Amino acid sequence: MMSLLLRIFYFVIFLPFLAESRNPALNDDVLGLIVFKADLREPDSKLVSWNEDDDEPCCWTGIKCEPKTNRVTELSLNGFSLSGKIGRGLLQLQSLRTLSLSKNNFSGTLSSDLLRLESLRNLDLSENKLSGPIPDDFFGQCRSIRAISLAKNAFFGAIPSNVGFCSTLAALNLSSNRLSGSLPWRLWSLNALRSLDLSDNTLVGEIPVGISKMYNLRSISLHGNRLSGHLPDDIGDCLLLKSLDLAGNSLSGSLPESMRKLSTCSYLSLSSNFFSGEVPTWIGEMKSLETLDLSRNGFFGQLPGSLGDLQLLKALKLSRNGFTGSFPESLCSCKSLVDVDLSQNSLTGKLPLWVFESGLQQVLVSENKLNGSIVIPSSSASNLQVLVLSSNAFSGSIPEGLGKLKSLEVLDLSGNRLNGSIPLEIGGAVSLKELRLEKNSLKGAIPTQIGNCASLTSLDLSQNNLTGPIPPTLANLTNLQIINFSRNRLTGTIPKQLSNLPHLLSFNIAHNVLSGDIPSGSFFNTIPPSFLSDNPGLCGSIVNRSCPGVLPKPIVLNPENSSPNSSSGSTFSPSGLHHKKIILSVSTLIAIGAAAIIALGVITITVLNFRARASASQSAAALALSDDFLSQSPTTDANSGKLIMFAGGDPEFSAGAHALLNKDCELGRGGFGAVYKTMLQNGRPVAIKKLTVSSLVKSQEDFEREVKKLGKVQHPNLVALEGYYWTPSLQLLIYEFVSGGSLYKHLHESSASNALSWQERFDIILGTAKSLAHLHRLDIIHYNLKSAYILLDGSGEPKTGDYGLAKLLPMLDHYVLSSKIQSALGYMAPEFACRTVKITEKCDVYAFGVLVLEIQARKRLLEYMEDDVVVLCDMVRGALEEGKVAECVDGRLMWEVPHRGGHCSDEAGFDLHVAGSIESARHGGGGEHPGTYQMPSG
Ligand SMILES: *[C@@H]1O[C@H](CO)[C@@H](O)[C@H](O)[C@H]1NC(C)=O
Ligand SMILES: *[C@@H]1O[C@H](CO)[C@@H](O)[C@H](O)[C@H]1NC(C)=O
Ligand SMILES: *[C@@H]1O[C@H](CO)[C@@H](O)[C@H](O)[C@H]1NC(C)=O
Ligand SMILES: *[C@@H]1O[C@H](CO)[C@@H](O)[C@H](O)[C@H]1NC(C)=O
Ligand SMILES: *[C@@H]1O[C@H](CO)[C@@H](O)[C@H](O)[C@H]1NC(C)=O
Ligand SMILES: *[C@@H]1O[C@H](CO)[C@@H](O)[C@H](O)[C@H]1NC(C)=O
Repeated sequence: MMSLLLRIFYFVIFLPFLAESRNPALNDDVLGLIVFKADLREPDSKLVSWNEDDDEPCCWTGIKCEPKTNRVTELSLNGFSLSGKIGRGLLQLQSLRTLSLSKNNFSGTLSSDLLRLESLRNLDLSENKLSGPIPDDFFGQCRSIRAISLAKNAFFGAIPSNVGFCSTLAALNLSSNRLSGSLPWRLWSLNALRSLDLSDNTLVGEIPVGISKMYNLRSISLHGNRLSGHLPDDIGDCLLLKSLDLAGNSLSGSLPESMRKLSTCSYLSLSSNFFSGEVPTWIGEMKSLETLDLSRNGFFGQLPGSLGDLQLLKALKLSRNGFTGSFPESLCSCKSLVDVDLSQNSLTGKLPLWVFESGLQQVLVSENKLNGSIVIPSSSASNLQVLVLSSNAFSGSIPEGLGKLKSLEVLDLSGNRLNGSIPLEIGGAVSLKELRLEKNSLKGAIPTQIGNCASLTSLDLSQNNLTGPIPPTLANLTNLQIINFSRNRLTGTIPKQLSNLPHLLSFNIAHNVLSGDIPSGSFFNTIPPSFLSDNPGLCGSIVNRSCPGVLPKPIVLNPENSSPNSSSGSTFSPSGLHHKKIILSVSTLIAIGAAAIIALGVITITVLNFRARASASQSAAALALSDDFLSQSPTTDANSGKLIMFAGGDPEFSAGAHALLNKDCELGRGGFGAVYKTMLQNGRPVAIKKLTVSSLVKSQEDFEREVKKLGKVQHPNLVALEGYYWTPSLQLLIYEFVSGGSLYKHLHESSASNALSWQERFDIILGTAKSLAHLHRLDIIHYNLKSAYILLDGSGEPKTGDYGLAKLLPMLDHYVLSSKIQSALGYMAPEFACRTVKITEKCDVYAFGVLVLEIQARKRLLEYMEDDVVVLCDMVRGALEEGKVAECVDGRLMWEVPHRGGHCSDEAGFDLHVAGSIESARHGGGGEHPGTYQMPSG
C-alpha cells in the first residue's frame, strides 16, 4: 500500500515531466490506469483485477493491448457503475485508440486534453453525468480522432465552431444534452463525416449552407431541436444518405426536388415541423425508403400513386396533415408495408379490402371522412394487430369477419355511424386487449361471447343504443381495467361477479336502465356516483336509494307487527308489478298468456279438489284406517313409550330408541326436528324424525289422530310415514328411508357435470305436483314444501316428505308456522305474513311455483351475498318483466340435446314463465289480499 501511495505521489508531482521523458522503470500504462482508478468509486468492484504490482495491465478487466508492445490500445468500461471524475491518468495511455466509458455515472467537466492522445480514434463518454460547456479548445486538439460521442450527458452551451478542424471525424454524436446556439457554420467542413447526431438539444437557427460537400454522409439526426428555415436545396447531393431525421423542429417549406436522388435513403422523418406542399410524385424514386414519416406537418393534396413504387416501405406515417382524396389504393403494392397511419387528414371514400389481406399489422385512419361499410373479406388471413377507424363516417354493421382477426389487439371503431348489433363473432378475436365501439348507433345486446376475449383490458361501448343485460361472462375477463357502458339502454342488474375483477379501475354505467343493487366489494364501494347516475332502478347507499327487495337477514316475521299494512312492505310485496310498464313485449304477452292458462288450471284444480273432497268425505270411513287396524300392529313398551308401526312387521329397532338417535346417524335437520337413519331388526333401513317441538305438540290423543291420518297417505311420490313413537317427552316419526338424497343436494351441492338433466328435472316437477295433488285431495296441506324435503329414490323418482307436520302443533298459528318454517324462506307464501288470512293449500301452490323456479334456475332461493340477500323470485320476476326470462334458466340446460321436439331451454324458459306466472297470478291482487287468486291485469 505504501508503495502505491508513493508511486502515485511521485506520478502526480512529476506528471508533466513524465509525459516528456519516460522513466523506463515504470510502466506508464499501469501507472496511468492506477491513478485513473484512484479517482473512481466502483460499487460493483469490477476493477479488482487492476493490480498496481503487475508489470503490465494487459490482463486487466476492460483493457486490450497491442500484442507487440504490450501498450494499452483499448479501455472499455461501459456500464461498470463507475462514478467520480475522469482523471488525467488516462493521458498516460499514449497508445490508446479506443476510450469507451459509456453508461456510467462519471461526473465533472470534460478535459480539453483528452483529444491530445495522439492515437485516439474513438472516444465514447456517452450516457454519463458529465456537464459544463464543451471546452472551446476541445476539438482544437484533435489529431486523428474518428468518432466522438458525448451523447446523453448534461453538456450545455454552444457547439464550438472549431469542430470543423477535426477533419478525420466520421461520427459525431452530441445528442441528448442541453446544447444551444446554432449549428456551427464550419460543420460541413467535416467532409469525412458519415454520421451526425445532434438530436434532442436546444439548437436554433437554420441548417448551414454547404451540405452538398458532405458526400460521405450516411446519417443525419437533428430531431428534437428548434431549427428553422428550409431544407437545404442541395441536400440530395449527399447521395449516400440512408437516414435523415429532422423531426420535431420548426422547419418549413416543401420537399426540395434534389431529394429524389436519395435512392439509398431508407429512413426519412420530417414529422412535427411546418413543412407544406404536396407529396411529389418523385417520392416513388426514393426506392429504399422503409420509413416515410411526414406526420404532423401542413402537407396537403392527394397522395401520389407512386407511393406504390416503394417496395421496401414498412411504415408510412402521414397523420395530421391535410391530405385529401381516397385511401391510396396503390399502397397495396407495397408488399413490405406493416404500419400505416393516415389519421387526422381529410381522406374520403372507402376502406380498401386489401387492408385485411396484406401483411399489415397496424392501420390507423381515425379522424378522416371515410365512409361506406367496413368489409372484411372472407379470404382474409390478416395479421392486423391494431385497427383504428374511429371518427369517420363508416356505416352498416360491424363485420362478422372480425372473429377471424385472431391477432387483433386493438379495435377502435368509435365515433362512426355503425348500426346493427355487436356480432357474436367478436368472441373469436381472442387477442383483443382494447375494444372501442363507443359513439355509434349499435343496437341489440352485448354478446356474452365477449367473455372469450380473455386479454381484454379496456372495453368502451358507451353512447350507443345497446339493450339487454350486462353479460356476467365479463367476470371471466380478469385483465379488465376499464369498462364504459354509459349512455345506452342496458337493463337488468349489475352481475355480482364483476366485483371479483381484480384489476378494474373504472366502471361507468351512467345513463342506462339498470336496476337492482350495486355489488359490494372494494371496487364498487368507491365508485364515483356519476358513473352510476341516471339508472332509476339502481339502489344502494352509493346512489342514496335503499333496495326494497333486499333484506339484510332472513325474515323472521314478528307477530306484533304483522298487520296487513306492514305485510305489503315485506319481501314478497309485488311492488314491481305496481309500476309495470304499459308496453307489452312479446315475452310479456307470452307470460300473460301462460298466466291465463295457469289461472285456468288453478281454477280447474280447485274445482276438482272440491269435488274430490266431497267424494272423500263420503268415503271417509273407507279410507280412514280404523283403530282396529292400528291396534293389530304389535305394540312394544320401550321406555314406557308406545311404538306403533302402521303396517305391522317387526317393530324392534336393532338398538334402543334413545341410543340410535346419536349424531353419527343424523341425516339432516328441519324446522320440526332432526332426522336419523337406523335399521329395523330385519335389516330394513328407516328414517326417524325426532320432533323438537315437544312442548308444542298436542295431547297424545290429538297427536295420534293426526299421525294416523298422515300414515294412511299412500302415494308413490310421497315418503311414507311408517309409524311413530310417543312418550310425553319424546316423539318420533318413522319414515320410509329414501336412498337418493334430497333434491336440494342434487341441485345445489353437486358439481355442474353431475347436474340433473332437463328430463330428470321435468320428472321431479311432475312427481312433486302429483304428490301435492294427492295431499290436497286428502285435505292435507304440506305447509313446508322445499327442495330439501323432496327426496329422490334410487331411480330418480321424487318423494315428497315432511308433509302435514304443522297440524301436529296445538294451534295453527302464523307465528309458530313462520318461525318453524323460516328456514323455508323464499317458499313462504305471503299470507304467512298476515295473521288474519286463513292459510290454505294455496300456500303449497305458491311454494311449488317457487320450487319450479329453483329447479330450472338451479339457484338457491336466497343467495347470501356479502351483506345482502338475493331472492330468486324477485330476480325471476324482474327478468320476466324485462323479457329476459331465458337468462334465469340454468346454463347447463342450454347445452342439452333437444328432445321432445323442442329445445329443452325453451321448454324450461316457458316453464319459468309459467312458474313466474303462478306467482304473479297469486300476487295479482297486491299485498292487501294475499292468498286470493287474481288474473293479472290484461
Ligand atoms: C448512477 O448512480 C445512481 C445513484 O446515484 C444509481 O441509481 C444509478 O444506477 C447509477 N447509474 C449507473 C449507470 O451506474
Ligand atoms: C448517439 O448516442 C445515443 C446515446 O448513446 C444513441 O442512442 C444514438 O443511437 C447515437 N446516435 C447515432 C447516430 O449513433
Ligand atoms: C361517401 O362519401 C361520398 C362523398 O365523399 C359520397 O358521395 C358517398 O355517397 C358516400 N357514401 C356513402 C355510402 O355514404
Ligand atoms: C344501418 O344503416 C344503413 C344505412 O346506413 C341502413 O341501410 C340499414 O338498414 C341499417 N341497418 C340496421 C340494422 O338498422
Ligand atoms: C337510439 O334509438 C332511438 C330510438 O330507437 C333513436 O331515437 C336514437 O336516435 C338512437 N340513438 C342513437 C345514439 O343511435
Ligand atoms: C369462465 O370460464 C370458465 C372456464 O374458462 C367457464 O367454465 C365459466 O363458465 C366461465 N364463466 C362465465 C361466467 O362465463
